[in-house]
Amino acid sequence: MPTEDPQNPPVPNSPRERVRVFDTTLRDGEQAPGFSMTRAQKLRMANALADLGVDTIEAGFPQASDDDFAAVQAIAREVRSAGVCGLARCQRGDIETAARALEPAARGRIHVFIATSPLHREFKLGMSKDQVIDAAVAGVRRANELCGEVEFSAEDAMRTEPEYLAEVFAAVIEAGATTLNVPDTVGYTTPAEMHERIRYLRGSVRGIERAVISVHCHDDLGMAVANSLAAVAAGARQVECTLTGIGERAGNAALEEIAMALKTRAELYGVETGVRTPKLYPTARLLAQITGHTITRNKAIVGENAFAHESGIHQHGMLKHRGTYEIMRPEDVGFARSALVLGKHSGRHALRERLSALGFAPADGELEQIFARFKALADRKREVFDSDLEALALGRDADE
Ligand code: KIV
Ligand code: ZN
Repeated sequence: MPTEDPQNPPVPNSPRERVRVFDTTLRDGEQAPGFSMTRAQKLRMANALADLGVDTIEAGFPQASDDDFAAVQAIAREVRSAGVCGLARCQRGDIETAARALEPAARGRIHVFIATSPLHREFKLGMSKDQVIDAAVAGVRRANELCGEVEFSAEDAMRTEPEYLAEVFAAVIEAGATTLNVPDTVGYTTPAEMHERIRYLRGSVRGIERAVISVHCHDDLGMAVANSLAAVAAGARQVECTLTGIGERAGNAALEEIAMALKTRAELYGVETGVRTPKLYPTARLLAQITGHTITRNKAIVGENAFAHESGIHQHGMLKHRGTYEIMRPEDVGFARSALVLGKHSGRHALRERLSALGFAPADGELEQIFARFKALADRKREVFDSDLEALALGRDADE
């Protein structure tokens, strides 16, 4: 029987290859100032992420605090449909603590990391190239003794010498790592560089066919999602991301953007994820509610304006064919419907449509009068609500 190629696992009933989604909302996301969550909140979010269909949930950094340990352990106990992962430095204490927290997991993973770039080797670690390799190998070996799945991250990989990075990866594959993560830790990379780096690693790391290449992009220059997609195009088969892109500094690649880009442009990427996309909006709302940080209105995919249209030209187009101004269906990401928002940019077509939905069918002359009063009101108010339209249709003054 042919063995499964870990780079290209088959997707049941689908001709497309699967890209695994590794969600780090509860580790890298929670690490951002102002986003910390209690154990109960993390558990609630973990269950929602599992329902969303992510493959692996990075639940925390068990060595960081007793509470993080307890949160990882509680998630490992409760979540069965996704893998549960704990982060650890390449240090025995971290790795053993992570293993203990993950003991109850149906599918546990230890994620060990060490920095590999010249800057980090010299100023942060004070270690030579060989010392970093030795520490990485020892860490992966110990993790492999304690846990069924081991992921290795070369922190600051994108500022690491490519040949040295390939050497580190070959050594950790030999020691038992089955996922090799390439973090753009400081969000410095461009999509073309990312594509080239993944292509290079696929062609030059000894034993690479035994591992999945993963990517972990930060958004300091606003390119985290573009870089993640470039990595997928070059053959990476795991993406690390957070819901709504929360994370250190400018954040991580946004899960909902990656999932919908891969789905909407499937003909281009030829892959699919296991994300149940209609759950994106409700799950993002839950995160906002838990963290207390509202989603900005113009946020791609899950912002309130993502499927809202105010300009008359756009509304006219939408009324004729939604494809004129929408590339995704709102229900595919969890919105009930598109919204034609009435404001000063709106036109007669949208006004007539809305009035009709409210039960009014003004004749043409009457519509002209209502339209004139509507425009005057919209110039004074940011948004015109249904109650305003009802008042205008009934010839009354709208609330201001
Ligand atoms: O950004 C980073 O390098 C990380 C690693 C720990 C994977 O978060
Ligand atoms: Zn990170």
